[in-house]
Amino acid sequence: VVLAMFDGLVDHVIDESDRARLDAVASVAAGPPLANFEDERARELLHDADVLLTHWGAPRIDGAALDRAPSLRLVAHGAGTVRDLVTPAVFERGITVTTAAQANARPVAEYTLAMILLAMKGVPDARERFRGGADHLLLTHTLADVGNARARVGLIGASRVGRLVIELLRPFELDVAVFDPYLGDAGARALGVANVDLDELVSTSRVVSIHAPDLPATRHMIGAPQLARMRDHATLINTARGRLVDHDALERELVSGRLFAVLDVTDPEPLPRSSPLWELPNVYLTPHVAGAEGRELWRLTDLAITEIERFARDEPPLHPVTADELDRIA
Ligand SMILES: NC(=O)c1ccc[n+]([C@@H]2O[C@H](COP(=O)([O-])OP(=O)(O)OC[C@H]3O[C@@H](n4cnc5c(N)ncnc54)[C@H](O)[C@@H]3O)[C@@H](O)[C@H]2O)c1
Repeated sequence: VVLAMFDGLVDHVIDESDRARLDAVASVAAGPPLANFEDERARELLHDADVLLTHWGAPRIDGAALDRAPSLRLVAHGAGTVRDLVTPAVFERGITVTTAAQANARPVAEYTLAMILLAMKGVPDARERFRGGADHLLLTHTLADVGNARARVGLIGASRVGRLVIELLRPFELDVAVFDPYLGDAGARALGVANVDLDELVSTSRVVSIHAPDLPATRHMIGAPQLARMRDHATLINTARGRLVDHDALERELVSGRLFAVLDVTDPEPLPRSSPLWELPNVYLTPHVAGAEGRELWRLTDLAITEIERFARDEPPLHPVTADELDRIA
């Protein structure tokens, strides 16, 4: 097993117990992880590598790297998307690729749940009005169209994150609707959600949360027409990718004060300092922190090591990535 990632990352993602798990099934190349596949040490290590355990900062695995790794059979990625890591040559050579996106989905779903509940309850608005000294705030807020009951949450994408959000929302008295062209009625029934088109989703939901991948088909899927259909004071949550939203159109709606937004990702990212979104009271910006961080990072490598253990025991991978699904996954 050869590690490939930012050197500074190793101590945050692989601890002694992880090392022990790896040592039990494989021999792990000593020394720092590979940050390139070209230098002499890289060539030596690649020559004997059966498995690459990769993470953020791993070099792209192209045909030249593969030529140096004649025995490579598994790329176990300890982070989310493999889009920038693997090239078609990896799949052409029959090398198994696995992703830890499922482990990364959990903190994103937890962040989303927290934001949905706060948004539905009208907390950001109440705080702003309270700070502004609203006299009869208690009564106006109490009687307002707020609260975690009898309302619809609209999720865009029954993705890994989207499905976990559905699970996390189960205990609450909220109606969950999903737009996903790959879901179908039977799929929606199995998840216990309403299968709706995008227009219905944006026009009927108090909170719209985006969980689709960044693909040509999803670019600006939330543009001026979709934003215009959103209900007054509805909240748009984006933890997916900034490009799914037309930010010029979004800025217009947010500056007008008609909508609320929770944006963990933006386009561009970060927003220029001149953007009004930094200061708007109806906008909550976070710096792409919804995914695994700090203590959550261990879960990612834990899953990658599980894939390596399964590979060593000749068991099928839990989360393989295939070439043909790259046009619909993150
Ligand atoms: N903010 C963060 O830190 C963070 C962390 C992890 C993931 N993400 C982002 O969250 C999003 C979801 O990630 P994931 O791993 O759950 O994705 P995923 O790979 O599981 O998503 C694939 C699924 O998306 C759905 N989909 C595909 N095209 C669609 C379309 N046009 N409209 C609606 N749904 C469509 C399909 O069900 C498909 O199976 C991605 O955009 C990802 O980049 C962000």
